[in-house]
Amino acid sequence: MGLDGKTAVVTGAARGIGYAYCQRLAADGANVVAVDIDGAADAVRELTGAGDKLGLACDVSEPSQVDAVVGTVLERYGRCDILVNNAGIFPFTSLDDVTIELWRKVQAVNVEAILLFAQAFAPGMRAAGWGRIVNTGSGITTTQNRDLAYMTSKGTVHALTRALANELGDSGITVNAIAPGLVATAGFLSRARTNGPTADEVFARTTAAQTIKRRSVPADLGNALSFLVSDDADFITGQILHVDGGVTRTGA
Ligand SMILES: NC(=O)c1ccc[n+]([C@@H]2O[C@H](COP(=O)([O-])OP(=O)(O)OC[C@H]3O[C@@H](n4cnc5c(N)ncnc54)[C@H](O)[C@@H]3O)[C@@H](O)[C@H]2O)c1
Repeated sequence: MGLDGKTAVVTGAARGIGYAYCQRLAADGANVVAVDIDGAADAVRELTGAGDKLGLACDVSEPSQVDAVVGTVLERYGRCDILVNNAGIFPFTSLDDVTIELWRKVQAVNVEAILLFAQAFAPGMRAAGWGRIVNTGSGITTTQNRDLAYMTSKGTVHALTRALANELGDSGITVNAIAPGLVATAGFLSRARTNGPTADEVFARTTAAQTIKRRSVPADLGNALSFLVSDDADFITGQILHVDGGVTRTGA
């Protein structure tokens, strides 16, 4: 899985799944640029691996801040080889209570940022004839959860993944999404409802629905990422890879 000399940009990288992505990419030898609205510089200090490490503060929903990150990456490394769009927010929303401002914010962070980063980095990947874009989707799109803005955003992430794969397939660039199930990250744990089920109850229900009956950990997603960005996965594109212990079954 050698990624020596490759540069990877990971958004939402300071904690949770994004941090596990950074750990794995660094261990595989890549230069890792961790991008987060908060805590990116601290997060990269803990990474091991031979490549360079850089933490950049950025609100990925703000185009001018994305531009600044892109400028820094291109100046320092010449291009981005591996783009991992992982930043995400998941406030509870329903038809009754969602505001248009919150709806737009969820789409801006979870969806629009993917477009901004892909537009900026795809030309360098095309010129190199090699690139990997991996987005973080979600198994929520296949469930009966009531989570209006978030579910919509992740369905759009899956569609955007396929659309980008269609555009970039002839350039040596693969575009896929990893769809986690339920992972005990700080983000997930902080959204436990005061009047709803506890995190333990949600996990018990989810684990019971899995074929593999253990809690998912962020490293499960890092392992999948490591494969998708490797040369071994060069014939895989436009896919939504559900890494969820077997909850989701898609296809024929
Ligand atoms: N945890 C789960 O069960 C689960 C399941 C399915 C999908 N996901 C997806 O995985 C991804 C990571 O989730 P997580 O559970 O690790 O969440 P998390 O909240 O623990 O981490 C998300 C990171 O994104 C950063 N972030 C948020 N808004 C940002 C912005 N505007 N600009 C830059 N960075 C921003 C946060 O600061 C944080 O470091 C998200 O896209 C989420 O939707 C998570």
